[in-house]
Amino acid sequence: MATYTLRVDKRVQETDDTVSLYFRVPGDLATTFGYRPGQFVAVEDDPAGEDISRQYSLSSVPGTDPWLRITVKRIDGGAMSTYLVDRVSEGDLLEIAPPRGRLYVPTDEPRHYLILAAGSGVAPLVAIARHVLDGGGDDRITFLYGNRTEDGIILREEVDALATHPRVQVRHVLSRPGEDWIGDRGRVDPAYLKGLWESLADPRPLSVFLCGPEEFMTAAEEFLVERGVDINDIRKESFDLVLNDSDDDGADDLLVPDDAADGTEEPVAARVIAVVGGEEYEAETEADEPLLSALLRSGADVPFSCQEGTCASCIVKLAEGKVRIRPGVLQTLRPDDLQEGVVLACLSRARTDRVRIDFDDIF
Ligand SMILES: Cc1cc2nc3c(=O)[nH]c(=O)nc-3n(C[C@H](O)[C@H](O)[C@H](O)COP(=O)(O)OP(=O)(O)OC[C@H]3O[C@@H](n4cnc5c(N)ncnc54)[C@H](O)[C@@H]3O)c2cc1C
Ligand code: FES
Repeated sequence: MATYTLRVDKRVQETDDTVSLYFRVPGDLATTFGYRPGQFVAVEDDPAGEDISRQYSLSSVPGTDPWLRITVKRIDGGAMSTYLVDRVSEGDLLEIAPPRGRLYVPTDEPRHYLILAAGSGVAPLVAIARHVLDGGGDDRITFLYGNRTEDGIILREEVDALATHPRVQVRHVLSRPGEDWIGDRGRVDPAYLKGLWESLADPRPLSVFLCGPEEFMTAAEEFLVERGVDINDIRKESFDLVLNDSDDDGADDLLVPDDAADGTEEPVAARVIAVVGGEEYEAETEADEPLLSALLRSGADVPFSCQEGTCASCIVKLAEGKVRIRPGVLQTLRPDDLQEGVVLACLSRARTDRVRIDFDDIF
């Protein structure tokens, strides 16, 4: 995957285990590093003598902040996070792949944004909230942010600044608060959401964003769906790269597009054409081989990481042809995304003998 060298202009220690790194993007890379709120970049390095690539959400706001910013929490024993939090200093150079992801999809009408963050999950969500407010529309935001302790609250000033807006409510929820904590206690879980539910009623359509540990997002999503929230209005970003078996819920594979007259239900070997950064790559898939795997085998320089549907690096628009995709492991994409032909190349298998996918056109 193509990376570019960016210099760390500023480093801010947010909490004991979390730092923000700021990068100023040179003018000639401005287009390459253009981004939407909530997108992520991949940092590539070899902190322990082995090349690795990890995704970090941009906690900065496009068009408002003059820099790119990532906010990284140290995971004990984690190769990249330990390196970025403990060893990277201002002036250091990092190899960074351009922004990817489709967490935030803009809408025209005013919405009630219900934003549920836990820990480092605040990174993309504070950026989305700030972006919505910068838009100056009639949106309402309810921002619920869970942490263990008050010292662990990340980007607190920015989160609290949201609440100076009349249509924004911010609630910090701590599971291990100090005695003098006057905010909410407990977790942002179904019991907590149930207690708030009536106060969340609003004539504006609801748009939910979730980011945090897997169990937190799953429980919140189940609660919301039970209360009638459309799954398409709940968007989430998973930071966990390890696939949880229960996510592969055995649901039937889906055909995309589901109304295409051409193609077959059966696996076919196909010619896949991929557009990335304006370049075209071609590869031949074996029958039922994921598109991404064929592209990588042929040496195509395409964005990818987990190869199992969790990181969203390989998100593409299906421009031609038909594919089957395994929905059980999808974290980021919603049914409406698939309807629009937005799929993940690592989970998609051709059902026409020619498939064209576009890594650039994902909105
Ligand atoms: C789309 C996306 C956006 C992300 N954005 C951010 C962000 O804004 N800020 C941020 O701090 N991280 C973010 N992450 C997580 C990040 O990419 C890394 O997974 C994380 O920093 C751990 O990498 P590592 O190399 O330090 O750990 P590794 O060496 O890969 O793993 C070490 C151990 O930690 C476990 N582990 C890995 N990731 C996690 C996790 N997230 N939580 C708990 N245990 C874990 C592994 O199973 C392993 O046992 C994001 C991930 C994705 C997919
Ligand atoms: S490579 Fe991670 S979702 Fe496809």
